[in-house]
Amino acid sequence: MIEVRDDAFLLQTRHTSYWFARTAHGHLEHLHYGPLLPPQDPEALRTKRALPYGSSVVYAPDDEGYSLDAIPLEFSGIGQGDYRLSPIEVFTAFGADVDLVYRGHRIREGATPAETLPTADGGPGVETLEVTLADERAGLELTLLYTVFPDEDVITRRTVLRNTGAAPAEIARLASLQLDLPDRGFTIRSFDGGWIHEAHAHDRPVSSGVFSIGSTTGASSNRHNPGLLLIAGDADEHCGWAYGFNLVYSGNHATSVERDAHGSVRVRSGIQPQAFRWPLAPGEAFEAPEAVLAFSDEGLNGLSDRMHRFVRAHITPERYRGLERPVVYNSWEAAFFDIDEKRLRGLAKQAAKLGVELFVIDDGWFAGRGDDRAALGDYAVDERKFPSGLGAFVKKVAKLGMRCGIWVEPEMVSEDSELYRAHPDWALRIPGKPAREGRHQQVLDLCNPEVCDYLVEQLGALIDGAGFDYVKWDMNRHIADAYSPHVPHPGMTAHRYLQNLYRVIARVLEPRPHVLLEMCSSGGNRFDLGMLRSAAVIWASDDTDPIERLDIQQGLSYLYPPSVVSAHVSASPHQQTLRDTPLSTRFNVAAFGCLGYEYDLDFLTAEEKREITEQIAFYKAHRTLFQFGRFRRGMPGMPTPAGRVVWQVDDGDTTLVGNFQRGVRAAPERDLLAIAGLEPGIRYRVTAKPQRVMLERLGHLVNHVSPVRVDPNGLVMNVVSRHRSLPDGVEQYTGTGELLASGIRLELQFSGTGHHATTRMLGDHGSTLYLIERIEREDDA
Ligand code: DGJ
Repeated sequence: MIEVRDDAFLLQTRHTSYWFARTAHGHLEHLHYGPLLPPQDPEALRTKRALPYGSSVVYAPDDEGYSLDAIPLEFSGIGQGDYRLSPIEVFTAFGADVDLVYRGHRIREGATPAETLPTADGGPGVETLEVTLADERAGLELTLLYTVFPDEDVITRRTVLRNTGAAPAEIARLASLQLDLPDRGFTIRSFDGGWIHEAHAHDRPVSSGVFSIGSTTGASSNRHNPGLLLIAGDADEHCGWAYGFNLVYSGNHATSVERDAHGSVRVRSGIQPQAFRWPLAPGEAFEAPEAVLAFSDEGLNGLSDRMHRFVRAHITPERYRGLERPVVYNSWEAAFFDIDEKRLRGLAKQAAKLGVELFVIDDGWFAGRGDDRAALGDYAVDERKFPSGLGAFVKKVAKLGMRCGIWVEPEMVSEDSELYRAHPDWALRIPGKPAREGRHQQVLDLCNPEVCDYLVEQLGALIDGAGFDYVKWDMNRHIADAYSPHVPHPGMTAHRYLQNLYRVIARVLEPRPHVLLEMCSSGGNRFDLGMLRSAAVIWASDDTDPIERLDIQQGLSYLYPPSVVSAHVSASPHQQTLRDTPLSTRFNVAAFGCLGYEYDLDFLTAEEKREITEQIAFYKAHRTLFQFGRFRRGMPGMPTPAGRVVWQVDDGDTTLVGNFQRGVRAAPERDLLAIAGLEPGIRYRVTAKPQRVMLERLGHLVNHVSPVRVDPNGLVMNVVSRHRSLPDGVEQYTGTGELLASGIRLELQFSGTGHHATTRMLGDHGSTLYLIERIEREDDA
């Protein structure tokens, strides 16, 4: 709900309020963002200014205490006395000086879609407040748009700048959002990393000066996800105040957190200003991307729940909302480029038997693509690899009961390709300078409409020609040569590229609503809300090692729901870390996302096949919960002990908990498992999902249980372990919601003193999934 009371704007969601008001001089003073407040006179929230501060610049000669430096503002200018970093830098005939004051407002029902960028969808109860500010002398008009999503407790903000003057202007920076909050002992949590270690959470206290994250790679990047949190002093996963910020944008971004001398914290977020310039002719407007804000007084899990519900209801494209994501098999880690119809058919037959629903042909299917040095940009199938064509393969896969998907990397071109030979000028290139390659490839100039048309045509023909139901859209390098002759100013290249990319994706997908889109960029190099406006899921990382994934998926979980996180089970030892992990843990981690498998099924043992078949069946039985349930990290009433990770998903009736152990300690402590979100007074049964310990994990210990002595590394053992395994801890507990929340004392872990049917065989990297169901009748217990 949006209410305007005198000069105050009151934005209300179900559990939060966001208030600001006009000052006597027409600036917008931020009053409150936090728990829901009943509408009332907000005087107590205003900044008191009976006396001027030393060292301050006074805005109006007749109002000595009015210094913009000391007032929390909704959007600041330059040159008016506020010396914090400004969200706007536009050059006009008056330099960068800009003073934006209130001119008017209106309230509209629903969201207000941007024309040039993706923005969140509206829905029941959604309203937008548009406040117009202007600097008439500079000829600039700025519209601040606030969209209120009451059910999800989310507010989005964006800005549109219009040149209302007679002379051209040039934008050097236009943030989507500025938010000035009182410092509540904030910690900043950002999600950073690089290739194969994306989205790791890092904390640091807010302190004097400026902290910033951003990207200059052309994509939202694996270096810093655009999302960021501010966590109040005493908050944790379960209680306390926290704020979340994100951007519906997939390109170069920048977010800064600045603490000033008055104890005010300014968050600024939007397009990265480095190398950005946008000329604005008289009458023209520029739209900044949409920023997403959420507040929770129920800790970080409460904040994530709000972000997750918002993504599911307003970011995920309507056609994918609530749609269960299929269990996927992807050829990449099994075969890399070495694919052909025969090999893939073999893999597909086995995948189908295991219960897989969709088979994805990854890289290597088109002519000339034997490795990563050639052929990007071309779309002709390699007839030596697929003599009967892709369509015939899709039909064979369909006969096995699976749908089929294809990998593409449309934004790139290899120098050794038909496309490059025909159109060398279609790649981004600094005039007169040799191209800088990454993964032996160059970036197509999406500022060029001809390039966009080519992609739409080729992709459409590929999908329709063979009948694909799924596209994995990859992007495997950062942009370096950001220059295009197709934009009026080189500083426009990166943003125009993005605007056109969004359009290309829409032109490919809108006529094909049956196609499920998986986005990818060397893993999670473009994991953002902009991509999620078109994609059902994003490949979170090329790193499928489950222990690494605990950090990656946990980092992403602060901002993104499991329904958009693509997560696969792969071989062990892992191809990047050489870490050996149990098959059970590889599944237990991937299950908290959209499940897939991507390793060589030819070498699975009978026991592994049995285990995987059961994993997939279990996942399908609980898929709605894994993908769309309420996700929580940690345990109520206690911090997660070092070396452990606890995740849960619940829907009010059923709960699934993953209990992960990174590394084992000798004589491990007695583990407690506390479960959140259960109803007091209701009785529940907690059952560990049955899983197997493969015999090779036991090494020499097998001789303690084997009737005859065997060489643990010998042939006999090798044969036996293909067909026999040990059931892992058989555990069951019962109790009411409050009992389970206070913590179950779990069965003992193996520690070398014997074995019992209930023993949890965790060791290094072991884990267990627990299913928690209501006990309807006492004799069920
Ligand atoms: C990078 C992706 O992240 C991988 O999953 C795979 O698709 C390769 N590219 C193919 O080149």
